[in-house]
Amino acid sequence: MLGGEPIRKRPFTRWPIFDHRERAQLEDVLVSANWGGFPSPNRKASEFAARFAEFQGVRCAIPTSSGTTALEVALKALGVGPGDEVIVPAITFAATAYAPVACMARPVFADVDPATACIDPRSVEQLITPRTRAIVPVHYAAALADLDALTETARKHSLAIVEDCAHVPGARWRDRGAGSWGALGCFSFQTTKPMTAGEGGIITAGDPELEQRCQSLINCGRRRPGDTFEEPLLGANYRMTEWQCAVLLSQLERMPEQIEHKSRQAARLRSRLEAIGGIHPIARDARLTRETIYIFLFRVDERKLGVSRNRFVRAMRAEGIPCGVGNDPVYRSALFPADSPQYLAACQLAGAPNPPRPFCPVAERLFEHELVAIPHEVLLGDDADVDDIVAAAAKIASCARELAGAKLDRTN
Ligand SMILES: Cc1ncc(COP(=O)(O)O)c(C=O)c1O
Repeated sequence: MLGGEPIRKRPFTRWPIFDHRERAQLEDVLVSANWGGFPSPNRKASEFAARFAEFQGVRCAIPTSSGTTALEVALKALGVGPGDEVIVPAITFAATAYAPVACMARPVFADVDPATACIDPRSVEQLITPRTRAIVPVHYAAALADLDALTETARKHSLAIVEDCAHVPGARWRDRGAGSWGALGCFSFQTTKPMTAGEGGIITAGDPELEQRCQSLINCGRRRPGDTFEEPLLGANYRMTEWQCAVLLSQLERMPEQIEHKSRQAARLRSRLEAIGGIHPIARDARLTRETIYIFLFRVDERKLGVSRNRFVRAMRAEGIPCGVGNDPVYRSALFPADSPQYLAACQLAGAPNPPRPFCPVAERLFEHELVAIPHEVLLGDDADVDDIVAAAAKIASCARELAGAKLDRTN
């Protein structure tokens, strides 16, 4: 940014990764002439659901069209509806807050823990009302929300937990899979995620009747022989195609190795970044016994570093390091308009016709001044890749004051 050569001139690992296995899987679907999700269950869908459930350590899994529809279906399967409140974290993608609105329930925003950027169980406790039906913790970036504390809170108040596991397929908390702690877990296979078919999602379920309800809700409300749930369900077509399931079968094969590799590279990156004053990587919780990295997150201390977070990120990009700032607090995101008729109607039904604008100070601070986010594929390379990131951060730190004082063509 001040002239000179960037640290990194070569691209990092390209995402998504695929090889002959995806090709063969797709060919298999092509010649089978069985391409869709109906009539279900289908060959690839059944196989993928069974393999993913085993991988995640849950009884069963239900493939869906996306992570967004997985969350919507999970809440509907639990009976969340008009007049209810659902607690979600302030920092997440808008889909987490969209899901309750799709059920005509009000999303209520909890602040996040500065150590992880995941939902803060203390903030959750303060937001529980007689209308609260569920908590949707998001396992954000590479961390898992504090499942011990949240499970206890949910038990105490008889609330359901739906884990938003969009970022962390394969992750384990005290040796138990993410998505197996709550009543249901929801995953995304959208293009940028750690395993992908371009689009897609899956719901993990322990309870057979909840599974039946999810199956019915994603399949236009159809019942399967032997289903035991009683009330009629209004469903839609949220099925996953055979193409997606086929690709995901191959993606899943690579997951254990990719998870381990990224985790090793992340440990190297953490320990080296920590040595730079003003940079604080998000630490790995000791209870996170298998760590899936979707985003490598670290915090900067603008005062100690001597330059604003925004200018730091701009400088990292100028050095050839892909990075961003993570998700903005949903309640102020352009993707979650607070004056949308659907949101306002959901609030009204929950007795809040003029909902106050939420304000979560930790989420605001993290988003405005602290978080730096590096996409996971960068960690799929070798040690030299990690060392380039560290070299870029160290270079910026060493000339932070000069950078802060420089007149640049844009603000920040
Ligand atoms: C935390 C979180 N939840 C849910 C979703 C929604 O997933 P999808 O894009 O597959 O609908 C995303 C997607 O980016 C996400 O990051």
